[in-house]
Amino acid sequence: MRRRSATTLFILCVALALDTEAKYELAPKRFETLPLGNVRPAGWLYDQLQVQTDGVAGHMHEFYDLVSKSDWIGGDSYYSYLEEAGSYWFNAMVPNGVLVNNSVINKKTQEFLDYVLDHQDETGWLGPEVGTDKPRFLWGRYPFFFGAIQLVEYDPSQTDRVVDALHKFVKVANKMLRNCEGVDKWAATRWEDFVLVLQWLHDYHPQGQQELLVDTMVRLKWTGVPWEKVFSEEYFPTGPVENLTNPFGMELSWHGVNMAEGLKALPATYRFTHNQSDLDAANLSWDLMFKYHGRPSGAYAADEMLAGLEAVRGTELCLVVEAMFSGSYLYQVIGDLKYADRVERMAYNALPATITADMWGRQYLQQQNQIAAKNMTPNPFPEDGPYSNVFGLEPNYPCCTVNFPQGWPKFITNAFLKTIDGKSLIHLYLGPFNTEVMLDDSNDVKVAVETLYPFGDTLKATVTAAQDFSYFVRIPSWVIGGSISIDDGPKQELTPDRETGLQEVGVKKGVTILTLELPTKITIENRLHGSVAVHRGPLNYAFDIGRSEQVIKTDPRESHAIDWQYDPEERWEYAIDPSSVVYHHDSPVSGVLPSPIFDSGLPPTRITATACLINWPLAGDTFASSPPQNPECVGPERVITLWPFGATKLRISEFPVLSFGEGVGDAQYLQSPLHV
Ligand SMILES: *[C@@H]1O[C@H](CO)[C@@H](O)[C@H](O)[C@H]1NC(C)=O
Ligand SMILES: *[C@@H]1O[C@H](CO)[C@@H](O)[C@H](O)[C@H]1NC(C)=O
Ligand SMILES: *[C@@H]1O[C@H](CO)[C@@H](O)[C@H](O)[C@H]1NC(C)=O
Ligand SMILES: *[C@@H]1O[C@H](CO)[C@@H](O)[C@H](O)[C@H]1NC(C)=O
Repeated sequence: MRRRSATTLFILCVALALDTEAKYELAPKRFETLPLGNVRPAGWLYDQLQVQTDGVAGHMHEFYDLVSKSDWIGGDSYYSYLEEAGSYWFNAMVPNGVLVNNSVINKKTQEFLDYVLDHQDETGWLGPEVGTDKPRFLWGRYPFFFGAIQLVEYDPSQTDRVVDALHKFVKVANKMLRNCEGVDKWAATRWEDFVLVLQWLHDYHPQGQQELLVDTMVRLKWTGVPWEKVFSEEYFPTGPVENLTNPFGMELSWHGVNMAEGLKALPATYRFTHNQSDLDAANLSWDLMFKYHGRPSGAYAADEMLAGLEAVRGTELCLVVEAMFSGSYLYQVIGDLKYADRVERMAYNALPATITADMWGRQYLQQQNQIAAKNMTPNPFPEDGPYSNVFGLEPNYPCCTVNFPQGWPKFITNAFLKTIDGKSLIHLYLGPFNTEVMLDDSNDVKVAVETLYPFGDTLKATVTAAQDFSYFVRIPSWVIGGSISIDDGPKQELTPDRETGLQEVGVKKGVTILTLELPTKITIENRLHGSVAVHRGPLNYAFDIGRSEQVIKTDPRESHAIDWQYDPEERWEYAIDPSSVVYHHDSPVSGVLPSPIFDSGLPPTRITATACLINWPLAGDTFASSPPQNPECVGPERVITLWPFGATKLRISEFPVLSFGEGVGDAQYLQSPLHV
């Protein structure tokens, strides 16, 4: 989110002598991205993106004031146009429109681009100046730039126009930074987003401006939050921050979404410092974040500010999609498997869990143990409103409505990469895709991946290539004893690179069929208060509390835009015996999953566990207290079913523990918490 505090000017402006420090070459990334449109979703993932398109994402331009104005100007509105909402919407809907080939959305995003570029003023500034006397702040434009880059990569015929406009903007931005202008507290925390844009210009369209581009990167860093300090052992908060004093005098450096964006800052800095210490700090930042605030859903807790490990604290939806995007970038620069593994967890758990199945309603905050979604009394979120976990059009703040739609499209676009030499293709995020790419200027490669993953363990990739080449596929860290077979050949043991997780496969020209088997075991993760979370592969499993649904309100402009209250309709106070867990899998007869898929009873996988009711009090009328330690059964033993977390809207995912039986069963146990 962002708050209405633009008038509080926050500037860390220092005189910089840059010429001796900076290097005008950028250090290479480890892997290269593919242009928007080369990687397309298939199977259930295509259906999911179509559900998103049919939901609020694909319709908000028709009715939602923040993005529906026909002239795209909202000069005096803090959220609109290029100050936030329009910019977020554009960043998300450019790839969404392209990936489902929706001509209405593609036309709308093109109009937005045209409007913004046509209104660039003579100084180079992009954005509203009409009817406002507030100073210019840089940040609001950054998501727009990401959208424009994606559009150019998809449609190179627009390159000159966009790139020229960006270069003009860089000139005015650099001048502003030299004059200590343009940096409010959002620009101070989100500087890394602009650095990525500058690096894209530097990598592909430098126009001889490398010095100015790098100078601007350095100035952004030095007028912004020092992320290497925020994410250091010395300063990093190891619990909720509401009662702590921020050592940097910058409360927003502990803001969940800013930190999600800030996870990109150190790998981005490395590219212009070439400094190993920046890579080490990037590595540490990830580990600290998930060790002290991580959740079984793959995300971390920040109900506005960092919130620690308790299961009723909140995770903001914007944080989920921004952390996914940062994780993709971290992998591209550093190539450590842990980033990709966690992005996949977030995509398949935290993202769908916090949005209704039809994708018309979203929460602002999700809870790992969430026994109701309603106006909360008392409110468990110290910095966010009591309405934050309601599913609806814009609970608490509107930002997540316009920002969440980037989640699936960017996950899809980043699912394949190529090696820096351009010769090899990498399948990074596992799922169903159709990819078409020109490698090494001459090798036309097509890959069709058929799979139910993460609701199945088998992937079949049909690779069609003009020439022999090396194909890489990521083997997640949780795979135990998998195999690959090539055409009708024998199953071969997997031997992935330990650091990158990539399995190399030599593929001959022509058509090759790769069959991957990626089995795993159920994993039990220790959480606070002796509780446990249950995982299998990328999916977290939760008890799906039967819910009653009540309409709180319907938006007068759009009948699908409903705010829903969910109340539990059954008992949820279960402790489980972790040694009793058993995995179950239906094979859909048609090979097709239901769509939508992320709701009660729909996914084909489940875990059962022996459980009993215990005394587990509320902590307020609407949320559970911490899981009780050493509980006693107050009801008979029974078997309960756990479902993929993303399909549960009310749930228990951190369970108190009982031990009825002997031994540990077939599951593997992890130390607390899951942080790699
Ligand atoms: C997108 O749709 C148009 C027709 O509306 C069609 O001509 C085009 O081939 C489609 N593109 C893709 C990639 O499916
Ligand atoms: C913060 O302080 C309030 C008021 O003293 C207290 O109720 C709350 O438990 C504290 N939170 C943490 C995480 O210590
Ligand atoms: C590189 O890292 C070292 C150690 O952290 C630091 O002292 C130095 O200033 C850094 N150099 C640059 C150009 O950032
Ligand atoms: C990342 O940091 C962890 C400690 O948090 C360390 O064990 C690991 O070796 C580091 N990885 C790299 C690639 O430096």
